[in-house]
Amino acid sequence: MAQEIYHILIIEDREDDALLMQKLLLKCSGVDESFQTVQTRSLSEAFQALSQDHFDLVLLDLSLPEAQDFRAFESIRAVAPHMPIVICAGIQHEKVAVDAISKGAQDYLIKGKIDQQNLARVLRYALHRSKFEKMRQEFVGMIVHELRSPLVVSMDSVAQILEGILGEITPDQKLFLTMAHDNMNRLNLLIDDILDMTKMELGAIDLKKSTFDLVELVKQITANFSSQARKKNIELKMQMPEMPVYVYADPEKIQQVLINLISNAVKFIESGYVEASIIDQGAFVECRIKDTGYGISQEDQKRLFDKFKQFGRRNKKGQKGTGLGLAICKGIMDAHQGAIRVESSEGSGACFIFTIPK
Ligand SMILES: Nc1ncnc2c1ncn2[C@@H]1O[C@H](COP(=O)(O)OP(=O)(O)OP(=O)(O)O)[C@@H](O)[C@H]1O
Ligand SMILES: [Mg+2]
Repeated sequence: MAQEIYHILIIEDREDDALLMQKLLLKCSGVDESFQTVQTRSLSEAFQALSQDHFDLVLLDLSLPEAQDFRAFESIRAVAPHMPIVICAGIQHEKVAVDAISKGAQDYLIKGKIDQQNLARVLRYALHRSKFEKMRQEFVGMIVHELRSPLVVSMDSVAQILEGILGEITPDQKLFLTMAHDNMNRLNLLIDDILDMTKMELGAIDLKKSTFDLVELVKQITANFSSQARKKNIELKMQMPEMPVYVYADPEKIQQVLINLISNAVKFIESGYVEASIIDQGAFVECRIKDTGYGISQEDQKRLFDKFKQFGRRNKKGQKGTGLGLAICKGIMDAHQGAIRVESSEGSGACFIFTIPK
């Protein structure tokens, strides 16, 4: 069997710690596998290395002078969302390291307690687990994709009966067939969401970038929600710059983010207004979707952009969903090197803010 070579990026500002890690990794290398390392001493050096070379895993020190604690992990996560990360923490940072695992780090090592055996075990486990995770996501993607063909054929058949192509139908039959068609449509949208999510998790999101006016796009999408807003008796407002604001991004994906955010705002509100606004910040543009709805508690905000997370369901009509919308928005923003966040408190509305570089 050919030797497997793993490329490890060590992010560590302390020479003695980095050297120890390199020595141990050299010792861990054998006939079947070897670990080749690159050391970077700061986050900016690490970003550069990640943009230039391929790495299989990052060993990240949690006490870099420029980004203490969780910030270093979050920064690497933002530029390399699919990279397995193993944390190296001092004993005083063990709690932060454990938190990082709940946010997607593969494992952690405690400085001063690292030996060849536990390093090799942690790395092998992290590398194999991320490989299996990738295979699992590809498998889910394939299965979900296969669900679509029979669904589309069924939808088409029902649509033809509804159109009366096979003869007249009674009002009762129409009612039930419409219900079936609506639900098949929902299932189809869910399949789209799961496929999008899987692609993002595999790092395979394919951006088709072009230059377009974000102001125009936001106006269009907001206007599409006017009848829904009217039905709920809420106002749809806009605060747009007079001039166009051009961005170089994937218009379809940005449209998807806007639809998700505005549909949430319209969904989780009883009265008041939803307002879309754009602020040109020079190198980047900021878009805000603000509502006067239920709001989101500080506790729920921590997991807001995770998959399948829904909070304080009130089981009201029209509030059904799967909890994938915001996770998809986050994935799209990451792919654009943008960001998304929320400002909210329970009971007093929410404001979702996304920024993308121009
Ligand atoms: N504007 C908002 N106001 C209050 N709560 C919100 C708002 N946007 C999102 N949420 C909360 O966050 C949860 C996750 O939102 P997300 O868009 O990911 O899922 P969803 O809307 O429930 O379903 P989906 O978007 O997949 O149809 C929602 O279920 C809701 O509890
Ligand atoms: Mg949603």
